[in-house]
Amino acid sequence: MRLQNRAMLPALLLPLLVAMLPAQPPQARIRIDTNRVIGEVHAHLFGNFAEHLGRCIYGGIFEEGSPLSDAEGYRKDVLEAVKPLGVSILRWPGGNFASGYNWMDGVGPRDQRPARPDHAWGALESNRFGTDEFLRYCERVGSEPYLCINGGLGSVDSARQWVEYCNETRPTYWANQRRKNGREKPWNVKVWGLGNEIDGPWQLGHKSAEDYAKFALQAAVAMRRQDDSIQLIASGSSNFRPSADWIGWNRTVLSHLKDEINYISLHTYIGNPDSNLEKYLAVSQDLDDRIAIVEGQIRAARNDQTRPHPIYIAFDEWNTWYRARSGTTEFEIAKTGLEEHYNFEDALATGMFLNSFIRHANIVKMANLAQLVNVIAPIFTNKQGMYLQTIYFPLREYGKQRGNSSLDAQVTGPSYRTGNRSPLGYLDVSSTYNAGEKAVYVNVLNRSEKLDISARVDNVAGTIGREAGVWEMNSPDLKAVNDFGSEKVKPAVRTTALAISDNGFTYLFPKHSLTILKLKIQ
Ligand code: AHR
Repeated sequence: MRLQNRAMLPALLLPLLVAMLPAQPPQARIRIDTNRVIGEVHAHLFGNFAEHLGRCIYGGIFEEGSPLSDAEGYRKDVLEAVKPLGVSILRWPGGNFASGYNWMDGVGPRDQRPARPDHAWGALESNRFGTDEFLRYCERVGSEPYLCINGGLGSVDSARQWVEYCNETRPTYWANQRRKNGREKPWNVKVWGLGNEIDGPWQLGHKSAEDYAKFALQAAVAMRRQDDSIQLIASGSSNFRPSADWIGWNRTVLSHLKDEINYISLHTYIGNPDSNLEKYLAVSQDLDDRIAIVEGQIRAARNDQTRPHPIYIAFDEWNTWYRARSGTTEFEIAKTGLEEHYNFEDALATGMFLNSFIRHANIVKMANLAQLVNVIAPIFTNKQGMYLQTIYFPLREYGKQRGNSSLDAQVTGPSYRTGNRSPLGYLDVSSTYNAGEKAVYVNVLNRSEKLDISARVDNVAGTIGREAGVWEMNSPDLKAVNDFGSEKVKPAVRTTALAISDNGFTYLFPKHSLTILKLKIQ
């Protein structure tokens, strides 16, 4: 081609020059405003769960006779790993196990306690770890205890007597038994679950919604007569996708129990069976939807309360669980010990769960990772020692680096779709404000497998300081796991100078990463 006019040269070269420039990362925007508060981030969002299942209690928390245990039988190495995890509330004894458990078998001199068949998981229960061992453990690690009654095969009166054993101050029969067993002052257990997953046909003593609601109402009234300061959690729907049954169970339970309960529970386990990271990390759409649906149901039930008081969601079982899950019955599944070996992408999923809970801090006031040790757990032991799984690190950090107010961060940016769901941003964000520290925490999961994403972070109220704390989890290998003697998947921590302009800055969130930015606000 002959150039007619030399002036055309730059115009023709421009596209070529642009193509030669290094590609710019896609742009996103995160707007923070400390006045846009969603709700109080309750400390109980950072709770956990310990069930008599596989090696969670025996061989995990508690191993009598081990050189790694103290005189009471608690594994000291595990105890030292649990403390920094900041487990604000610990649920026990199950899970499915609770539905066949008689708490009376687990108190008194250890050598005189009866061994019983555990019909939930097909095991033999020695009962050497019982109520007092659990409650002492909670004191040692600084967790609030949460006891789940036997809402399957158990009776209303047994549940009431359990409250008496733990909380009674007068010289009654069960309070005196507690004293005989070495505990003079009451344990003062405030949080009680009215059974576990009673909607599930796998549950011992599975009931229809109406039958469960009648049982739970009687249990609630009797337990409250024993101690009217306790908080009660109803067993909500436990399967994942909201179906007619799922919605119907919650509606019935809420309509019968609305005047008695403080929470309704939800459970969710997720997985990545297709090895598709972006699809795996899109589950927050389901989580967000599910929470919103139950929030609406709670609102409807509260409209009709005769004793008006708030009801919240307790997400008291959540985690990734799909590899150690083979078999069709609970007994077959139990053979896996539910011993998941978590990889790097599961640590990202942990951030996704916590982001969703923080975004719904107005209604989700408790969340318990299932479970604490060995069984789908952040801490993994053998007889010689232990290591921290990948999911340990985000759990610990989210509990530690946070404020008490969840902020409604406004996020725009590149998105993607999975299946026929609506578009979903690659950046999954939650944010909290700590007024005492004058700090805003911005928690960002970049769920893209391929794209680094550059975000302009704008602050609306207050002035951002020129330095940020950065906590980041990333790995070139999505499938990387930790093991005994090899904790290679762990966070990087640093401070970084921010190039502030107009009270904002630009930050590059690398592909498949989880970042907590700590911003000082003057
Ligand atoms: O956490 C493992 C099991 O999962 C629990 O026992 C049960 O409640 C749920 O189905």
